[in-house]
Amino acid sequence: MNNNELNNIHAKIDKLLSVMTIAQKVGQMTQVERMTCTPDDVKKYHLGSVLSGGGSGPEHNNPQDWVDMIDSYWCSSMEIDEDHLALPIIYGADAVHGNSNVKGATVFPHNIGLGAANDENLMYRIAQVTAKEVLATGIDLAFAPNLAVAKDYHWGRTYESYAQTPEIINKYAPSIIAGMQSGIVNDSVFCCIKHWVGDGGTTHGINHGDTVLTWEELNKIHITPFVEAINAGALIVMASFSSWNGDKCHGHKFLIDDVLKNKIKFSGFVLSDMDGIDYLSNDFYKAVGLGVNAGIDMFMIPQNWKEFIEHLISHVELGSVSMSKIDDSVRRILYVKFAMQLFDKPRPKERQWANDPSFGSKEHKEVAREAVRKSLVLLKNNHNALPLNKQNRFLVCGKNADNIGHQCGGFTIDWQGISGNDSFPNGTSIWQGIQRTSPNSELFTSVESITQNQTQFDAAIVVIGEKPYAEGIGDIREDNEVIMETGSMVNGEISISEPYGNSIELQHLHPEDLQVIQALTAKNIPVIAVLISGRPLVINEELKLCDAFVAAWLPGTEGQGVSDVLFGDHNLHGKLSFSWPARNHLKTTTNSQCPPLLSFGFGLTY
Ligand code: BGC
Repeated sequence: MNNNELNNIHAKIDKLLSVMTIAQKVGQMTQVERMTCTPDDVKKYHLGSVLSGGGSGPEHNNPQDWVDMIDSYWCSSMEIDEDHLALPIIYGADAVHGNSNVKGATVFPHNIGLGAANDENLMYRIAQVTAKEVLATGIDLAFAPNLAVAKDYHWGRTYESYAQTPEIINKYAPSIIAGMQSGIVNDSVFCCIKHWVGDGGTTHGINHGDTVLTWEELNKIHITPFVEAINAGALIVMASFSSWNGDKCHGHKFLIDDVLKNKIKFSGFVLSDMDGIDYLSNDFYKAVGLGVNAGIDMFMIPQNWKEFIEHLISHVELGSVSMSKIDDSVRRILYVKFAMQLFDKPRPKERQWANDPSFGSKEHKEVAREAVRKSLVLLKNNHNALPLNKQNRFLVCGKNADNIGHQCGGFTIDWQGISGNDSFPNGTSIWQGIQRTSPNSELFTSVESITQNQTQFDAAIVVIGEKPYAEGIGDIREDNEVIMETGSMVNGEISISEPYGNSIELQHLHPEDLQVIQALTAKNIPVIAVLISGRPLVINEELKLCDAFVAAWLPGTEGQGVSDVLFGDHNLHGKLSFSWPARNHLKTTTNSQCPPLLSFGFGLTY
């Protein structure tokens, strides 16, 4: 944008700010979940944005229903009368690996797999396809990419991180921003980079936990990806639930106002995470003041948003929040709306890409299939067990063999993900991919059901690993001491969800997987393992028994990409962007006493 255009936008904003009432300004600073607000509320409260939290969508969950729903919110936001100005809402959703809330969408591998692919051009194309499928549903804003640098596999959001060090993320951020915001003809999707800052660095990987680092370390590891994304044009930043050295990021004036806005010169707006300010104080009134004064501009509030609006107006009236702070936030929000040309767009129903037939198309799925192929990391390949011969007979089993929901992981159809194939009309499970490639293969839903003579099979392909999870529910916590460290107090109580498990050793987390492998090796059937997981897990026992072992991460809807590589139509490409643990580091005193089993960058090829 040149200076003239910039001045023009600010002149328009000046004009708006000079006529806006406090209610209109505070309304713009409010983002509400669709379940708790009607189109009439958007007008009545001048809401700046509406969102779908994970899994929150219209009844039939197809593009048409999404467009119709968003259209009605947008139309309310654009009504003009003596109490209301036409300020288009921004509609946001978690399109974190494709527009993955929506049935039939192309779902890409989660970030951990894409980090292993280490391919910026692929990232650009993924972002482009994601943007198209987001626009097909009328959504303006994707709460993505997540730029976390995950440091501890216990964290349930490890799979949202591309790598354990910032280099790959720094390279990826500009490609993703370009693909989403400028990669589509005549339209664009807003990116919201998250979570500011240090969410991947918390002690023991605790979600909402505390990142204990010096400023230099925080800057070098966790801040640099944000700088890259902002330089590439990212205009929305989501605050992190976590703390830095004991202070919550949502209330961190130094990190938000001083570093992000003043030092980095971020000109867009800062969005809170879902109810993120609730953790600042047991008194919601105080929490509102702390959040605004720290520099948060828009507040994601699913339930008590009317209370938020009342409280913020009262803060302004009483002088505990200055009018200039409010004006700065509203200026930033309106700036983003102008810069992303939201004022020039027709209603969602009439937008060029609304309901576009490319949603979930073969062309889009080809990009996802390529991403799956490139994300696979081969950890072991004894006696060149891979690639497999398509003419041979393979026994396929393991709980994740025929389960697209498990392949996709969290933030897919539902917040915590789902199980089964029904919600993925055009998806391909790993088993379905194998079946198409090697027609003599046979699926067994349990080892007990294998009654045939073992010699009938040349080898077994066992698809094992984790089940879907998201956020805190995906954390692995070793013991109670660790639980007490979270510091996530809501109304004076520790807010803790049941963790996914209490060990990063697969044989403890999912003993059924080792049992399947043992049952097969006991029959002298060579085993090829494919691990579905959101993080590296300790797999020493399983690895020992298998001839070949592939880390497939959370590949998404295109399971065919796995057989493309297993059967040698494509070579291996992926390299570990996270080192593979040999032992559980919580059980060792220091990391230096616990070298990894496989280092960052490891990955075999044919
Ligand atoms: C997550 C965010 C997400 C938001 C909206 C929060 O719980 O931390 O990453 O974008 O929900 O669904």
